[in-house]
Amino acid sequence: MGAKLAKAAEVLRMEDGARITVRGWVYRFRDLGEKVFLIVRDSSGIVQAVFSGEAAAKAREADVEASVIVTGVVRSDSRAPGGKEIVGEAVEVVGASKNFPITKDFSREFLLDVRHLWVRSRRMQAVLKIRHTVFGALHEYFRRSGYYEVQAPMFITAAVEGGATLFPVKYVDGSTVYLTQSSQFYLEALIYSLEKVYTIAPSFRAEKSRTRRHLTEFWHCEAEVAWAGLEDIMRVEEELVSYVVERVLDSNQDELKLLGRSTEPLERCKPPFYRVSYDEALEILEGKGFKVAWGEDLGADEERALVEEFDKPVFVHRYPEKAKAFYHKNDPARPEVTLSADLLAPEGYGEIIGGGERIERLEELLEKIKRFGLREEDYEWYVDLRRYGTVPHAGFGLGIDRLVMWVAGLDHIVDAVAFPRTIRRVYP
Ligand code: 4AD
Ligand code: MG
Repeated sequence: MGAKLAKAAEVLRMEDGARITVRGWVYRFRDLGEKVFLIVRDSSGIVQAVFSGEAAAKAREADVEASVIVTGVVRSDSRAPGGKEIVGEAVEVVGASKNFPITKDFSREFLLDVRHLWVRSRRMQAVLKIRHTVFGALHEYFRRSGYYEVQAPMFITAAVEGGATLFPVKYVDGSTVYLTQSSQFYLEALIYSLEKVYTIAPSFRAEKSRTRRHLTEFWHCEAEVAWAGLEDIMRVEEELVSYVVERVLDSNQDELKLLGRSTEPLERCKPPFYRVSYDEALEILEGKGFKVAWGEDLGADEERALVEEFDKPVFVHRYPEKAKAFYHKNDPARPEVTLSADLLAPEGYGEIIGGGERIERLEELLEKIKRFGLREEDYEWYVDLRRYGTVPHAGFGLGIDRLVMWVAGLDHIVDAVAFPRTIRRVYP
């Protein structure tokens, strides 16, 4: 009788007596003399295989992380992980693995040095599966809601989010260009064609600060909507984030469990989210012993303290002009603040989205560029958009790695990415 090819996770659901073949990698190896136990890992999970006699001799050649093809018969055993094991008949070692380097040192730095191997770990596997759900859900949400997916260039000529974090690149003609910090300006151009647009792309920031939530290359989900204002865009953001979280809860219970992530804060993540103004946020912070001068942006510590007060995500809206980039529209009812909002994740995570209403009037934009000490000629085409049929519009950018970090309950952003890029790391 031929053996059926099966995934490790499928074996755990099979009837005893089924004859199967599993292909994977040796996750644990135990030699008890008479018997050899291999726990085999594949993309679906793990399953134990036990070998004796001639097959045991062959199994002995398979060290940790060797690739193997195991054939045998399924049998219930309460001591095996998942309650089933494979009584092994044969094992083929496809690729040997001698002295797999990840054994005792599980420090973050070491695991980053060997990321090309650590991505096989069950923890990383769980994070990557959650990340997969998150990316899929972002696309689903926008496509179902009438947005067009667009792509913007990565080489750009002027800062969107301030000059301090621009990455210069020597271009082919010898000039200096930059890696994009945000696709926002291109999305703004594209709303005049497609009205509702989104993109999922890397953004780059030469972040000099080492923090738990900054990468130099991160994945950015950005949307821009014609005829929309601050309130409209906040509603889109809370719907989007709730949708993504719901999809993770639907698809990744096993992964959340493996990561020890409590699902309760995620289950609470339903619209409407809380909304506080920047002024109210300052009051709350003052009550908690923080002194933020009016006009300053909120830092990570302030955000962490603020979100302690909320059991689901909270919008902080109407930041002072000077705390936000020049393109933000000032509130006509109160010109010293902008029609901006950051979305802060609970449980200490803080900012995951920045967004708001954009300046649509030519004169207002030119004045603000001047007020911010920027050069009008750097923003020529962006300004030009206000000359031909300008409309009110709003948009936002969501840091996907930060969203994954929060949803998976990770304590460092580098653990939300397969191959993170930070101020100190571009390898492997
Ligand atoms: O708040 P930011 O800087 O806003 C913008 O870039 C806007 N132009 C977006 C827009 O309106 N289209 O960045 C947006 C989000 C942040 O809230 C954060 O989640 C993430 O991008 N982000 C980073 N994530 C990881 N590492 C970094 N260095 C990040 N910088 C920003
Ligand atoms: Mg921001």
